[in-house]
Formats: sequence, structure tokens, C-alpha cells
Amino acid sequence: MAEPIRVALVGCGDISSTHLRSYQNLGMKVVGLCDVILPRAQRRKEEFGLTDTPIFEDFGEMLKKTESDLVTVATPVACHAPLTIAALRAGRHVACEKPSTLCIAENKQVIEEAKKAGKKVIFFSSRMRWAEVSMARQFIQDGELGEIYRVNVQFFRRRGRPGVDMMHNARWFVDREKSGGGVVMDMGQYFMDMVFSLTGWPEIQSATGWTFKGFPHELPEGIPFDVEEHCTIFARSAKCSYTFDLAWISNHPDTRSIYILGTKGGITINKDGFHFHTERGGPYRFCDTTTTWKDKTTGDDHIYGDLCRAIRGENVDIGTTPEQALTITRLTQAAFKSAEQGGEVRLADLPDGTIDPDACAQVVRRQKELFAAGLIK
Ligand SMILES: NC(=O)c1ccc[n+]([C@@H]2O[C@H](COP(=O)([O-])OP(=O)(O)OC[C@H]3O[C@@H](n4cnc5c(N)ncnc54)[C@H](O)[C@@H]3O)[C@@H](O)[C@H]2O)c1
Repeated sequence: MAEPIRVALVGCGDISSTHLRSYQNLGMKVVGLCDVILPRAQRRKEEFGLTDTPIFEDFGEMLKKTESDLVTVATPVACHAPLTIAALRAGRHVACEKPSTLCIAENKQVIEEAKKAGKKVIFFSSRMRWAEVSMARQFIQDGELGEIYRVNVQFFRRRGRPGVDMMHNARWFVDREKSGGGVVMDMGQYFMDMVFSLTGWPEIQSATGWTFKGFPHELPEGIPFDVEEHCTIFARSAKCSYTFDLAWISNHPDTRSIYILGTKGGITINKDGFHFHTERGGPYRFCDTTTTWKDKTTGDDHIYGDLCRAIRGENVDIGTTPEQALTITRLTQAAFKSAEQGGEVRLADLPDGTIDPDACAQVVRRQKELFAAGLIK
């Protein structure tokens, strides 16, 4: 039996339980838990029966005092790059939550640091590993779609702005300095990751973005809310067009629908499952297949399983790498720029953006203030 992979987790908020569940499912050893709000780390320690696992308020201290193969970063976005880089410099592999980074410059820095350290970094996107996405991948690899020329994603929540309508302990989601943006940085990343991974990580040449914010809210005074609630993106690659219509809040039923059109076949993924549309036996002999495929293992279990194998030296596709994440970061930044200035933006003309060296420290200060004021638990 191989020794268990040792993992340390930073950020013991909402999503940390999903990571901790995967560690348990895969027999990984949790050697440290860290949160600037220490009671949150204590809560997770107790909930998951991690009696021997030390907890830390300071990430640097956890890196110094624990020995781990892997660090999971599950903090607000502004801390993703700084903590990932600190972990790499301390010789750890990193599994970081999505979205990768606040800007292109940070994303590039992570690529460089991972190369220097000779360690692996992945950004989480478990939706890429959903059962129906694996099925779509198989159909595409088998050539069932022919030439793919068009992809569309529609994701609508009726009422679901994190930090506002739900997840009230994570106010940072709607504060641009800390999150980098709204529904695109939150949900858009999953779908970009999913459809780009299915269509071979195309080079996106240009994008048009349009954003909207205008629904009422009842946030306590002094909580910043300056991110988009709805965003529509049109993106071009040489061979395929992509659209993303994304809403955290809308007067529309909750919707999750993806279509991928090819010259031989088309795939739709929606709440009813996986659908394949083609002709069989000649022109106009339409053939539609609908199926649901449940996978007992979660997307996160797949990701950690592959990552553990890669850390042990096996040659496995761990996706989403920092290089792949850069495609998503570039498109996101192009969409925001287009929304701001109007008109189409060529990705080659995009500035890398500037790194704010104080951004993560600001997150830490703010978390502590909000906790002390009883505005988050
Ligand atoms: N909540 C979800 O459903 C969900 C789903 C998928 C991905 N994510 C992603 O996971 C990440 C975390 O989201 P969340 O919902 O768990 O947020 P959260 O606010 O509930 O948790 C983040 C935690 O990180 C801690 N933290 C912040 N900076 C820190 C630092 N420098 N050192 C130590 N701890 C620090 C905070 O105190 C907080 O407890 C985000 O990137 C988010 O996009 C969240």
C-alpha cells in the first residue's frame, strides 16, 4: 500500500467541506487546517473528526510547521495566486479553487512559479468531470460530432447571488477587489472550463461582453457590491463560436443548458440529462438519444484521485493546469473590457493587468473585521 498523500487546507469556509469529504473518500491524510478566522478551522476539525490535525491562523506558519505533499487553496480569489505561489516556493503541489487568479499577470506568475518549483498546480473545476461531460468527451473523441463549429452555454439562477441571496458568510463574492468579478468569475469559469476542455482548448481570438447589475438587495451598510449580476459573452476562435449567457439572478426559471453543434452530430446537456442528435441511415433520418448517466464518484474525487496519482509519478491528465486557466482568464478579462468600453476586444491586445501586492492582506483584514462585527459567522 502506498503512503497516503498528505494534504494541508487553507480556507475553511463554505466549500472546504467538499474538499475534506474527498480527502476522506480517497484516504488522504489531513496534516493542517488554516483559516484567518480560527474558529472556522476548529469547526471543520471537529466536524471531520480530525483530532490529530493542528489548526493555524497564519498560512506561512502552517507551511513551516507541517509537512505536506499538497496544499488546497480554498480562499477568496484575491488570495489564490499569493497563497499558491507561497506553497510552491515551500515545495508543495497545489490544488486551488476556481477561478484561477484576478488578472492575466497573476495567472502568468503562477505558471512561472510552478515551472521553477517543478510542482503541479491545478485549478478546480469539477463540472468538467461530471458524468455527462465525460460522456460528451467520449462522443467527441469518437468523431460522432464531426467538425464542431458552435457552442452555447446558458446558466440562469432565479435568485442566487452568493453573499447576497445565499452564502451570507461569504460577502467577498460581490466585492470586485476580492473576487475579480461577479457571475463570470463565479459560475462562468466552470462552463468555460467545461466547453474549452471538450473542444481542445481553442485559441480565443476576440470577445464581446455585456454586463448588467440592477436588481435590488438588502446588504448591510458598508458591504461593497460592485460586480455584474448578468453577463453575456460572444467569443470567436478560428473554427468555432462560443456564447455564454450567465445570470446569478433573473426573472427566469433556474436553467443550465449547454449545446455543442457539429457537422455530424450535436450534443445538448441540460436538467434532463445528456442528449445526442444525429442522422442515422441517411439524410433526414433524424436520430435522437437521451440518457442520464450517474457517476457515484464526485467530480472532486476524480480530480483529487488523478492528482494523487500524478504526485506519485503516474502520467495522468490532471487538468485544469495554469496554462489552460490562462485561456479562461484572458476571455474573462476581454469580456469585462468589452463591456466597459463597448465593441469587440482582440485578446492579443489585452493588457496583463497589474498585481496588487496588498490584495490578499486586505481580504484577511476584512474577514477579521466582519467576523468581529458579527456580520459573518
Ligand atoms: N461556496 C461554493 O459553493 C463554492 C463552490 C465552488 C468553488 N468555490 C470557490 O472556493 C473558494 C472559497 O469559496 P467559499 O465559498 O468557501 O468562501 P468562504 O468565504 O466561505 O471561505 C473562504 C475562507 O477563506 C478564509 N481566508 C481568506 N483569506 C485567507 C488567508 N489568506 N489565509 C487563511 N484563510 C483565509 C476566510 O476566512 C474564509 O473562511 C472561492 O475561490 C470560490 O470561488 C466556492
